[in-house]
Amino acid sequence: MSKSPWWRNAVIYQIYPRSFSDSNGDGEGDLTGITNHLNHVSDLGVDAIWLSPFYTSPNRDGGYDVADPRDVDPRHGNLEDAKILFAKARALDLKVLVDIVPNHFSSEHVWFKAALQAQPGSPERARFHFYPGKTPTTPPNNWISLFGGPAWTQVSDGQWYLHLFDSSQPDLNWQNEDVRADFEKTLRFWLDLGVDGFRIDVAHGLAKENILEDHYDPQGLSNALRLDVEMSAEARGKLLATVPFFDRDGVHEIYRQWRKIFDSYDREIMAVAEAWVHPPERATRYVRPDELQQVFNFDLLVAPFNDQILYQCIDRTLKLMGTVGASPTWALSNHDTPRVVSRVGENESRALALFTFGLPGSSYIFQGQELGLPDAELEDCDRQDPAFFRTHGVQKGRDGARVPLPWSGEAAPFGFSSGKPWLPIPQGWSSLTVEKESGDLSSSLEMYRKILALRKENLLDSADFTWSRRPDESGVISYRRGNVEVFLNTSTQEFQVQSSGHFAIASDPRSKLELNILSIAPSSSAWIALS
Ligand code: NOJ
Repeated sequence: MSKSPWWRNAVIYQIYPRSFSDSNGDGEGDLTGITNHLNHVSDLGVDAIWLSPFYTSPNRDGGYDVADPRDVDPRHGNLEDAKILFAKARALDLKVLVDIVPNHFSSEHVWFKAALQAQPGSPERARFHFYPGKTPTTPPNNWISLFGGPAWTQVSDGQWYLHLFDSSQPDLNWQNEDVRADFEKTLRFWLDLGVDGFRIDVAHGLAKENILEDHYDPQGLSNALRLDVEMSAEARGKLLATVPFFDRDGVHEIYRQWRKIFDSYDREIMAVAEAWVHPPERATRYVRPDELQQVFNFDLLVAPFNDQILYQCIDRTLKLMGTVGASPTWALSNHDTPRVVSRVGENESRALALFTFGLPGSSYIFQGQELGLPDAELEDCDRQDPAFFRTHGVQKGRDGARVPLPWSGEAAPFGFSSGKPWLPIPQGWSSLTVEKESGDLSSSLEMYRKILALRKENLLDSADFTWSRRPDESGVISYRRGNVEVFLNTSTQEFQVQSSGHFAIASDPRSKLELNILSIAPSSSAWIALS
């Protein structure tokens, strides 16, 4: 039997370069810092790293405002450092994914600067979305930016340009041949340097329809974009799905073309789409056999610690991805959402990690998740997220999840930098450093190391997933895969069940298996090895 491609069941560790490790004391993480600490990632037992952007950027949106997609920002190092990092990853048997940001460039990109110098109607402007306003002082339509405020900014000759994010992130026009050709060049550039694939930013946003028409519900959309506004996932999804700039049919021919490029390399290249779509069936369109390999499933990033909801999310994802033969993805945290510990609680976050690492497909870990880091409390004066500024502080933004990693020592910045970190690291994290948690068997880090080793030993390619317990009044769900059975107890009571297996690992030390009775502590999960 041929081995499945590396990414089908991979564990992928997301590195946010700015906050991983700073090797030169400027307070910002860099590529050499990543190389220096890559052993930590490989010791964890993951298969691949995904590097968030490290490209030339004025850094108005944490590097997702790219001014040169084929070079490294001096804050993060240079191309030589990137090559050294890729070589170290290869030596450690880690695959490398890099971010590609095709929806927009930075306003500092040479193309946008040229567009500003050029006339309305010129080829330079045609690479972006420049239009006259409805009136001399009103934008072409009422679309809003995902970071708050209007999605249009006016330039000195009266035209307006579209930016779904910050005004420093002008949207690219994917009808334009220069844009298509330039991204193909960028894909090849990084593939030729040895990377194994891409995480595609705003993958659902490249094709826009009815660009001169108003969107009928900008306020609804604005609420849907705010995680602090109470709204069901269903309602949120619907509001996001109705906008004329997301999930349009036109995006798919782009990925079919990219797929041909990936397949022209003689190693297994993969790409994972960041695509917030609704209804969930729409996600399968990104991973049809001639398109991308994976699409992020964001359900678990927002799901509460509730057996019914978790069961539904997982079951639906497995079924949907099965319809197109794609491998599912699971993520509990990333750089855009509150960290899982802050969202559901410490015990609950460990329980979720253990439970999801047994599932078929790829699990994504956001740096620091393995340490059990919560979001950091920040003063408003420290915040840098454009969403905070564009909403005049109504949205606090994503900085709390992006605080640099604590590595060692007793005092902040805990070995992250010899200088002043770009965001302050809480002194309270002294017990959460890599150094402190290493060797402490009760720590989150050691739990992650052990569970990833068990996953590798027991589950690697097994596709034989079955639910052994569906939601009922107990609050417990469980599944079998390979030779393990994995339980999740979402209730506040201990749960007991007969089991003839052996105890493998639990997220709570109070859980045990004695005389064929498995006792699972409240808000916890456990892996049982079946005989
Ligand atoms: C999604 C990225 O994950 C986020 O950090 C960024 O702000 C937006 N896309 C815009 O690029």
